Amino acid sequence: MCGIVGYIGTKEAIPIILNGLRRLEYRGYDSAGIAYLNGDNTLKVFKKKGKVNELVKHLKNIPTNIHIAIGHTRWATHGAPNDINAHPQLSASGKITVIHNGIIENYSIIKEALIKQGYNFVSETDTEVIANLIEEIQSRDGVILSEAVRLALNEVIGAYAIVVMSSDFPDELIAARKSSPLVIGIGENEFFLASDATPIVEHTKNVVYLNDEEIVSVKNDGTFLIKTIENKIKTPFIEELQMELEMLERGGYDYFMLKEIYEQPTTVKDSMRGRLNLEKGTISLGGIKDYEHKLMNAPRIILLACGTSWHAALIGEYLFEDLARIPVEVDYASEFRYRNPIIKEEDVVIAISQSGETLDTMAAIELAKSKGATVLGICNVVGSTISRITDAGCYTHAGPEIGVASTKAFTAQVTILTLMALLLARKKGTITDTHYHQILIELDKIPAKIEAVLKISKQIEKIAAEFKDARNFLYLGRAYNFPIALEGALKLKEISYIHAEGYPAAEMKHGPIALIDEEMPVVVIATNQSAYEKITNNIMEVKARRGKIIAIVAEGNGKIKELADYAIEIPETEEILSPLLSIIPLQILAYHIALMRGCNVDQPRNLAKSVTVE
Ligand code: M6R
Repeated sequence: MCGIVGYIGTKEAIPIILNGLRRLEYRGYDSAGIAYLNGDNTLKVFKKKGKVNELVKHLKNIPTNIHIAIGHTRWATHGAPNDINAHPQLSASGKITVIHNGIIENYSIIKEALIKQGYNFVSETDTEVIANLIEEIQSRDGVILSEAVRLALNEVIGAYAIVVMSSDFPDELIAARKSSPLVIGIGENEFFLASDATPIVEHTKNVVYLNDEEIVSVKNDGTFLIKTIENKIKTPFIEELQMELEMLERGGYDYFMLKEIYEQPTTVKDSMRGRLNLEKGTISLGGIKDYEHKLMNAPRIILLACGTSWHAALIGEYLFEDLARIPVEVDYASEFRYRNPIIKEEDVVIAISQSGETLDTMAAIELAKSKGATVLGICNVVGSTISRITDAGCYTHAGPEIGVASTKAFTAQVTILTLMALLLARKKGTITDTHYHQILIELDKIPAKIEAVLKISKQIEKIAAEFKDARNFLYLGRAYNFPIALEGALKLKEISYIHAEGYPAAEMKHGPIALIDEEMPVVVIATNQSAYEKITNNIMEVKARRGKIIAIVAEGNGKIKELADYAIEIPETEEILSPLLSIIPLQILAYHIALMRGCNVDQPRNLAKSVTVE
């Protein structure tokens, strides 16, 4: 969603801002803008619908000798994506400019009051309301900019990360956050402000993650001050970024998504590194060590997430129930928070999120915490809000995921859930020694087996060419591979815009079978040993209606291979680990189909990488 970047210091600000905006492109956006203060302290604003390149064309010449500037990529909420609604938004006098990520819920009430006081509005945005509110408070109360921002934020209800720049205060930028992320990068007499660390890492590794309802003033004399919106001074906690610049580059791949698919042998290994010790036959998850007892004795584990992370949670349900015999409930965070759920203090909630910034997941966590439940997190982004508001947790260590379609983060989440379930099963004694060791040995082989699947990419590309013009797809799977059917369908629809549905294979007869004709490709994940015969029957039912079967089968499993129109053979593994392999061909299939249809694989239309609004 919206991306924020700001700079104040001694270097040329405009290239830093434009480069930062490019780094933030992956978050998803539909317009971009920049504002800076000229040497004579006049505010200049340039904004354009479309990509950052459009903005650069609009700028014509890159201004030099600029040392304070802000930039924004907007994902439209209030008002269409156009030049006027793009950020930065100016106050009525043209002296204050604001960039904003989030939604101000009471903006129309504030707007009406400001209109009565003579303010005119040019855009449809809630952000312009913030700019004018700050201006009004400043002139009414005669306060400095940071105080006006603080007072304004006491009046707004909603979510925000903002950066404010004023021509009357040319030596400082003010930033604040509530429910939307904001990071401060600290350099030598310079500061960077951004929605996440990606625009910052090439300049400095020292960062401060702003907390909810905190305001920071960063100044060009190298000083900064953090306060709460209640006016309490906070001591900043400076952290070192664990991110390298190369992680943010495509590294020779055409698309980030392709790079991230191919990184999976490494990222799955990284998720297990230092946690799985094959020689000793142990699993240790340092992040949740103090909560093992609580987990083992939990009457219920509640897994909360959205999108792809929710699919990982569904696999978690199979794992925890099957291996550790702990009852599990899986919920969409967005539904959980609004359905008055029954939460007990003994419950353990596990929130799963790649970005660690998904607003619905954050709100669901807060709800669970308020009812006294222990809340653990499984996050990919180090230092993200969810990793900080949960009691404890495990990082997935998949590295930055830039492609909007989640791939390596998903397999890393499933790896962590597998380790957690095995750890608990071992401690509870719900798994036999033999089975436990068998799974550990097999888990260790998964990265090499993913590597083997990646080698058949050409075959999958040929299948993609056959089906690139299909209008609908059905994905079927059973047990551990039912969530994979959902995830395969999601991958296809989000990047190729083909309508795709995932279903538990047995449910096909209860409705979706009506859709099947010779036009309908049906992807069947048929690697499960336990339901092999049943899946075979489902395939027969599709074939009887002339549907085209693309089957994902385990090597050596002859029968389904014969039946399918197209068979993709992947290495055999333990059934509980099969999702880690069966998702790979589906990611590759979606990627190639999207590419062949001319879609923007990394930045699909309308989508945002981290969904920081409801
Ligand atoms: O960052 P999160 O894991 O919390 O994000 C959840 C979803 O928004 C995300 O998985 C989304 O569905 C992806 N586009 C899927 O590829």
